[in-house]
Order: sequence, then C-alpha cells, then structure tokens
Amino acid sequence: MKPLSGFRDLLPGDYARRRYLTEGWRDVARRYGFVEFDGPTLESLELYQKKNSGGEILTQLYQFTDRGDRTVALRPEMTPTLARIVAAHDREFSKPLRWFNVGSCFRYERQQRGRLREFLQLNCDLLGERSVTADAEVIALLIDLLRHFGFGPNDVTIRLSDRLAWHDFLEQFGIKKENTADFLNVVDKMEREPQEKTEEKISLLQHSGLTVDKLRDFMASPRIPVLEPLLEELEARGLRDFIKPDLSIVRGLAYYTGVVFEAFALKGNLRAVAGGGRYDRLIHDLSNGAVTLPAVGFGMGDAVMLEFLKEVPRATDREASFHQATAACQVYLVIADEAQRAHAIRLAQQLRDAGVRVAFSLAPERVGKQFSAAENVGATFAVMIGAEWPQLKVKRLSSREEVSIPVESLSTWLSSEIS
Ligand code: HAM
Repeated sequence: MKPLSGFRDLLPGDYARRRYLTEGWRDVARRYGFVEFDGPTLESLELYQKKNSGGEILTQLYQFTDRGDRTVALRPEMTPTLARIVAAHDREFSKPLRWFNVGSCFRYERQQRGRLREFLQLNCDLLGERSVTADAEVIALLIDLLRHFGFGPNDVTIRLSDRLAWHDFLEQFGIKKENTADFLNVVDKMEREPQEKTEEKISLLQHSGLTVDKLRDFMASPRIPVLEPLLEELEARGLRDFIKPDLSIVRGLAYYTGVVFEAFALKGNLRAVAGGGRYDRLIHDLSNGAVTLPAVGFGMGDAVMLEFLKEVPRATDREASFHQATAACQVYLVIADEAQRAHAIRLAQQLRDAGVRVAFSLAPERVGKQFSAAENVGATFAVMIGAEWPQLKVKRLSSREEVSIPVESLSTWLSSEIS
C-alpha cells in the first residue's frame, strides 16, 4: 500500500538526505544565536481563522472535529503557533528572542515537484526588535543557510520587497492600509495569471482609478526608497549579490506588515525555497492586545530544498561527501573462520565502544557474500578475521588495498585512517 497522495515514506536513503538538510539547518541557525523550540502539530481552528494566516492557506487546512467536538486543524505553518506561545510566555524571556523550529506542516495542496501535503519547515524568527538590523540579521541567516549547502548568487536570489511601499502606492487610489489585503492578493497572483483575469479582479474591488498598467509601472520602479537602509546593511555584510529588490513579492499570508522576501532557485523551475517577512501586529492581534511584540522571520521547506540540491553540482558534491562521511557502517568484520566468531564479536564490541560504526554477518556466510554485505552497507573497510588470528587483514573497499595488522593495533590504525 502506498502513502496518501502528497505524503512520504522516507526510506533510510531518503531519510539520510533529509538529515543532511536538518543538520545543516540547525548548525547555521545556532551560529546566529538561535535556539530551538517546538509546539503542537494540532491547533484549534480558531488560531488560523482569527484573521491571522489569511489568504489561500485557509482553503488548504486539514481541519476536522475531534472526538471532544472541538474544531481543530493540523498546522499549515508555524508562525501562528509561535505567536501564540510567545504571547503566553512573554514575561519569561528577555528580548529579543531568536527562536527556530524544524517541524512538519500540512497543507491540502496539489502535489508537484517540491510541493507536498506534509512537509518539513525550518522556521527562524527574531522577536522583540523593530530595527532594520533585525531584518538584515534574519535575511543574512537565510543567505547563510543557502551558502552552507553550496549555493551562490548565481544559483539563488532573494527577491525583496516591502508592504509599506505598497500601502503608500495604494493610498493614492483611496485604498486604506486596512483594506490592502485584497489588492495584495491580486498582486501575489499576477505573475501566474493572464492579464484579463487581473483586470477583472481589480475592477471588482473598490478604488479610484487603479489599472493593471499603473500596477505594472509601479512594480517596474527602479528604486524602492523604503528598502535602502536594509540594502545598505546587507551590502555591509557582503551579501548584496544575493538580493533583488522586486515589488511583485507581496506574500500570500495576511499578517505581514513591512519587509517581505522570497528565495528562488534560479535552476530547476521550483516553487520558492523560502519565504518570510516582518509581522509586527500578529502577536498583538492574537493576544487581543495583551502583548505587543514586533517580529521578523522566514520559513524554508525541505521538499523544495531537496530538489534544489540535485540541480547544482557544487551542492550535490557537498551532499555526497556528507553521506560518505556518515555512511551507515565504517567497518565490516568478515569472519573467514567460524572458529574465530567469539573473537570477532568481542572485537566488534571494542570498536563500537571506541565510537567506530561496525557491522558483521550474524550467521555463518561465505566470505564472498560477506564482502558484498560490506559493500551494501557502505563500509569503508573490511576486516578479515581468519585462522591467522590475532593477525588481521584490513581491506579498503574503494581501492582494494590491503594491509596486515595485529588486532591490538587495529583501533589506533583505524582512528588515524578514518579521521
Ligand atoms: P510560506 O511561504 O507559506 O511561509 O512557506 C515557507 C516555505 O515553506 C516555502 O517557501 C516552501 O519552501 C515551503 N512550503 C510551503 N508550502 C509547501 C508545500 N505545500 N510543500 C512543500 N513545501 C512547502 C510561511 O509558512 C511563513 N509562516 C514563514 C514565516 C516564518 N514568516 C515569518 N516567519
């Protein structure tokens, strides 16, 4: 039986790929002083409906009534959960908070390459700081996450925009800040829809004189003044090459209030690799005004990143060396003489105590079959234990080179070879 459409079984090879990603995520996030937290995968439906997430995501919820008659939903994103947790524990932490999470999210979307119904998301959020330096810090973290996996400015671009620029523009057409959501939704879809559809949508909204051409002219503006301080900060960090100011990025989620950004792979025709922005009102709204905490952050999906890693040779090679270094087994003990099995088992235990990953055949087996098993588990060395015990033959499986060493020297020899 297969898993449900949009869900994955991760076999050990797939899981190893995902572990490569999540270990990298955690390493880089910690380098920026971020600490890991977690929350529940199931939340009350109200958390998403309370004009928080908004937009398309509400139509993609896995929602149901539980056995206690509560209306609940599997989380489609982490941000409302984070906002709920932070609002509830506001007094326990000094600010700013630098928090990250790696967890599953669920969206009832149509399955495509890099788009699933259950996916893992890395979320990094900086809370309690309103300055442009916080925006720069979070964007720098996003770029370093991409660099960590081997991507450069020719492989990926961060498209950067600011909803404040949109609010100012829309105000000229009599559209108030609190009514911009519908317009921003139209802009969000514009790139993917025919012009007539955009025109039709705009004509249905209340405004004075806004046309698709005026929207396009605005989006083509060469400069976005409100972004200048942030661009300067990113320039000072040597990261400007990754950035492309682009007003067509507005983001589909309702809660963003300022800078917004999305990271796009320049190869492979994939959906956004990551997206985020500033959301200074979400925690305030969600706590009914009890806690006000400005925030900025982003989410990055595993499914898109795993596809992207296959597109760029530098990234693919880097991943391959990780898998080599973390292969299931470093040493396979080939028991060529069953009379030595007890010695072999004791040796396996000693090597494992010394931190070496060891396997051996659990039942008597032909030597040739044991060598195949050693190859199958990705072992670097096969150690042959035969009638010459305590003298051993050690074979490097990649080159077939062989050395003969006494058992008491094996551990030291292996530790220098493995390192
Ligand atoms: P989002 O743009 O909806 O933002 O998702 C962020 C990333 O999650 C996407 O760029 C994509 O890599 C991945 N993703 C989203 N949906 C799917 C899917 N169906 N299948 C596979 N991957 C997917 C948010 O979720 C915001 N809460 C991010 C955020 C954090 N903003 C501030 N802090």
